[in-house]
Amino acid sequence: MTERYVLAVDQGTTSTRSIVFDRAGRLVAVRQREHRQHFPRPGWVEHDPEEIWANTQLTAAQALRDVAGAPGQVVALGIANQRETTVVWDRATGRPLVRALVWQDTRTGPLVEQLAARPEAAIVRERTGLELAGYFAGPRLRWVLDAVPGARARAERGELLFGTMESWLVWNLTGGTDGGVHVTDVTNASRTLLMDVRRCCWDPDLLDFFGVPAAMLPEIRPSVGVLGTASALPVPLPISGALGDQQAALFGQTCFAPGEAKCTYGTGSFLLQNTGTGLVRSRHGLISTVAYQLAGEPVHYALEGSIAVTGALVQWLRDSLGLIGSAAEVETLARTVSDNGGCYIVPAFSGLLAPHWEGRARGLVAGLTSYVTKGHLARAVLEATGWQTRDVVRAMDADSGLPMEALRVDGGMTTNNLLMQFLADVLGSPVVRPMVGETVSLGAAYAAGLAVGVWSDTGALRRNWHRSAQWVPDPGRVAALDAVYPEWERAVQLSIAWGE
Ligand code: G3P
Repeated sequence: MTERYVLAVDQGTTSTRSIVFDRAGRLVAVRQREHRQHFPRPGWVEHDPEEIWANTQLTAAQALRDVAGAPGQVVALGIANQRETTVVWDRATGRPLVRALVWQDTRTGPLVEQLAARPEAAIVRERTGLELAGYFAGPRLRWVLDAVPGARARAERGELLFGTMESWLVWNLTGGTDGGVHVTDVTNASRTLLMDVRRCCWDPDLLDFFGVPAAMLPEIRPSVGVLGTASALPVPLPISGALGDQQAALFGQTCFAPGEAKCTYGTGSFLLQNTGTGLVRSRHGLISTVAYQLAGEPVHYALEGSIAVTGALVQWLRDSLGLIGSAAEVETLARTVSDNGGCYIVPAFSGLLAPHWEGRARGLVAGLTSYVTKGHLARAVLEATGWQTRDVVRAMDADSGLPMEALRVDGGMTTNNLLMQFLADVLGSPVVRPMVGETVSLGAAYAAGLAVGVWSDTGALRRNWHRSAQWVPDPGRVAALDAVYPEWERAVQLSIAWGE
């Protein structure tokens, strides 16, 4: 049989990558381009949607060109994207109204506090499965409608469109002002605070609550199924898969059975556990989110523990403190000592997400004595990722009742062996990493390929998953870390109290 390939676009927080995969799930071509991060005021983080669209076109065209001579054909396009980042654009001109408000942007904090004080706020958690927090897209959309003169009236007349990043890209890929399709996938829609998570449709009460006109919202579609044709690429391809990037990683890690879980370690870290077709409501600070939906099939749900700052703390050690020259050096520095020297870092740079949801918490270094060296600080930086994961896994065990036999990991930080062993010890369960580390793109490719028959079913995808590394807990270390866990918890409580 001639080879068939699938192109995946991973539109992430720092860059856009276009990757071509073959049927064995192997990378055949990779192109990447970073985009500018705009920080116009403290706490504000913006991206230029037009720059991101240009980077998508460019990297996709390059990746397609890379495989043009290969024996076989690219047959589908899948998209994975940074979630909750909010784009509003003009339907007639295709120009963004303002720059995209990025998921890390904290400007909606005061607005969210006002909204939370209203009696109707109780419906938000019940209908959406989410916390009422500035992390999600709805408050950002409301902020744009309030801040830009005339925006709400224009939105009501259907002149302005809203979308998360995949929606913006699909609209442009399918023709933009010349008949672009205005859709979103159900996983991305589940991050807006505007969607009823059980019925998977926009909820009129939530639209009222946030003051968002229905006319500007995209149509909600399954994650696996044809959304339109990408006529803007050199080779027009069906766009047959779209998922938020963390859901795409769950898909790429083939966590299709209830209880299976993955955590992606990047700037932030996101742990998702498949809970099957039943929505599990969290009572321990996690959120219920859509994992994926195949066209014509029921929605699959996940419990998610979102951690805002993990890899970003290593960057802070490098860029703000200058204690290391490259991210990889954190491991070397941490290995100069045998433990954290009693030091804990809580990286609540912009508040804490799961399981605390404390927007006002602020970061701290606890336990400093003159004994503490930069080696201890480096260890505390890495351990912060492990401790935060433990908090989320504990909440997940309590909520789902599904045993997590092993945690599948991916993302840049998983090359750090010291961290991975700490993770296995602090969780008391094995940690496994797959051969293909690009799980976000792979998940988008799997979704798109599944829709057009490149793979017959999810069983075929599972057979592509191979383990590259495993870390098993050391019983002595597990017991020692259990004993000091209350110190971490105390540091977290202090960081929350600091913001009060
Ligand atoms: O929820 C935010 C998440 O989707 C961001 O992922 O990999 O683009 O930083 P990433």
